[in-house]
Order: sequence, then structure tokens, then C-alpha cells
Amino acid sequence: MSNILELRDVTRVFGDRTVLDRVSISIRQGSFTTLLGASGCGKSTSLRIMAGLDRPSGGDVLLDGKTVSGLTAYERNVAMVFQSYALYPHLTVAQNIALPLTMRHLSTLGRVPVLGSLVPGASEARRMILAKVGETAEALGLGELLDRKPGQLSGGQKQRVALGRALVRDPSLFLLDEPLSNLDARLRVRMRSEISALHRRTGKAFIYVTHDQTEAMAMADQIVVMIGGKVAQAGAPRELYERPANRDVAAFVGHNAINFLEQGDGIEIGNSVAGLRPEDLSPDTAGTLSARLESAEYLGSEIVLGLRSAKGTEIRAIAPGDYAVPAPGSELRLGFSPRKLHLFDATTGARLETAA
Ligand SMILES: Nc1ncnc2c1ncn2[C@@H]1O[C@H](COP(=O)(O)OP(=O)(O)OP(=O)(O)O)[C@@H](O)[C@H]1O
Ligand SMILES: [Mg+2]
Repeated sequence: MSNILELRDVTRVFGDRTVLDRVSISIRQGSFTTLLGASGCGKSTSLRIMAGLDRPSGGDVLLDGKTVSGLTAYERNVAMVFQSYALYPHLTVAQNIALPLTMRHLSTLGRVPVLGSLVPGASEARRMILAKVGETAEALGLGELLDRKPGQLSGGQKQRVALGRALVRDPSLFLLDEPLSNLDARLRVRMRSEISALHRRTGKAFIYVTHDQTEAMAMADQIVVMIGGKVAQAGAPRELYERPANRDVAAFVGHNAINFLEQGDGIEIGNSVAGLRPEDLSPDTAGTLSARLESAEYLGSEIVLGLRSAKGTEIRAIAPGDYAVPAPGSELRLGFSPRKLHLFDATTGARLETAA
């Protein structure tokens, strides 16, 4: 399948700070990509460069195979949704959603309400805009709210209006910058599936920025992990989880923070570092690892155990919900499958392919 968007060796320098360092990202037509990374790693800067709201200091941006360096944001037909919603408070929901269409289809004169009806062509464009806004609002469950102002809406409703404004112009690409970060946990989960449904329905490529790895895993068919202005790894969620390219990606991807073990922590790994996920490590009387129990968090379906190796390394393991937790201070044996061990170079952090 062809690429709708490509960043090739894109660099962005602010003053003497290199914020993006030779970032290359390929976005397939119709795909859902998440840009995942900690605060300040360059996610928004990348997105703004894709949208044409910012220019790279070096490198190339290709839209549909063609360089777009010379095109403005407006000319790219790319829709962007911001974390802050960026709604106009004095406009109604309908007017906010209609905005990209009014800007495109009506001349300055046509936008003026009274004179507008006197301008040839304007009323036809106006009818088209009304129909399109109505259709978009219905699809997003905003039909009843068209006359309200943003100040009279909940967070989730505001976010839907922002999505509606992106949808209404039928863009070739959707860019969403942490669109759910102002919502509470429950609403986030609901809006997450609504955005996935929107993606399926439109069939367009979505690029979704988040620092929440659960969100990234749940929604994406490609995750691009960014660390310190560089692409650390790009691939399918499963690929990143099962074969993280380096220690930093291993630490970032996965619901439970991965354990890092060294020689002397009960495994023979020479001078490399081993990554072992808590969900791959559990109490087992025949296990080869041994550690002292410090805490236990009962979560219903599972119990998260906090332990410490003789060497002092913190280790987390997961036991089933019905596990009888021994007294704190007990020495526990832990077992794991060698297949689940990730080995990293102690100096560079790069993944080592031959497991011990
Ligand atoms: N206009 C600017 N001038 C100078 N520095 C900037 C500018 N815009 C961004 N930066 C810096 O570039 C770095 C990356 O910023 P960016 O907004 O892309 O991060 P981010 O990954 O989106 O972070 P967050 O998750 O906090 O939104 C930050 O260190 C930021 O301070
Ligand atoms: Mg940002």
C-alpha cells in the first residue's frame, strides 16, 4: 500500500537546540499511527511539521509522494485536532463545525450574513454547508447541540465538536494531538473507541499523538516511539512489545513497568542487562530467581508483588488473584520462560539477539 505521508530525515532546530533529529516516519494510506513518547520528545513539533504549521530546518515532507515543503497548512488538506479543542467561544456548535467550509466556499462577502444572500452562488454553498454540518453532527451525536456555545458543553462534547470540525472538510489525513488528555478516565476510554470507529468509517489515515502507552497500544496499527527528538522504534504494537529495539522502548511500552535485571540477580547474563516483564514473572517453587517480598497490591484478577533481589534490584512480579500472599519479608522463588527474556547491551541499551 502506498504512503500518504512521509517524513524523511526531518530536523527541527530552535536556537541551538535540536528538537527533532533526522526523524523519518512513513504513514500508509488508511492506517492508524500513534506517536508515543514522553513530554518534550518532539511529538507536537512533528505533527505541526506534518500539518504545515511549522517548517523543518532540514529534511523533506512528502504528501502522496510529492514534496509539500512549499505548501501552506491550508493547501495540504490535512485536518488537525488539538488537545485544547481550539473552539471559538462566541460561535455556536454548528458555526464551529462549519468554519473550515465557510472559509473555503464563501468569499469574504458571502460570509457576511446579510449581504451573503445577495451574492450569487453563496446561498447554494450555504445550503451545502448546512447539509454537511448536519450530517457530521449526527454522526458524532451532536445533533441536539447545534445551537449551543462551547461554554455550555461538557469536555467530551467539546472534543466531539473539534473532531466534527476536522471531519467536515473531508481531509486526506487526520492529525490529532493528545485529543483526549482533558477528559476523565472513563470518557477517555469511550472517546478512544469512538475515534477508532471514526477511523474505520472514514478509511483515512490518522496520526494520533499520545504519551499514554495503553492508548497507543489499543488504537494503533503502527506505533512510532519517540525519545529525545529521535524515532526510537516504529512498528506494530505487538512487535514493540515482544521485540523492543532497545532498553528505552522496553521501558516505555507495556502496561506494567518492565524489570531490568543484571548478572547476580539470579540469572546468568554476563555483562548485558535483562528485561523481564512483571506479567512474565510469577511465584514458582521450582523457579530459578529468588527475591524478598516487600509489598503486594491486590487488583482482583491479579496481585502485583513488589520484591527485592539479594543484590538490591527492585523486581515486580504478577501472581493470580487467588494467590495466597506470604508474609512480607518472605524469600520467594520466581519462575519465567527464557523466551520472555529480553537482553540489552549494558552500554548502548541496544537489543541483543541471542538470548542466554
Ligand atoms: N517554538 C519553540 N521554540 C523553542 N523551543 C520549542 C518550540 N516549540 C517546541 N520547543 C521545544 O521542543 C521540544 C519538543 O516540544 P514538543 O512540543 O514537540 O514536545 P511534545 O513531545 O509534544 O511534548 P508534550 O507531550 O509535553 O506535549 C520541547 O523541549 C520544547 O520546549
Ligand atoms: Mg505536545
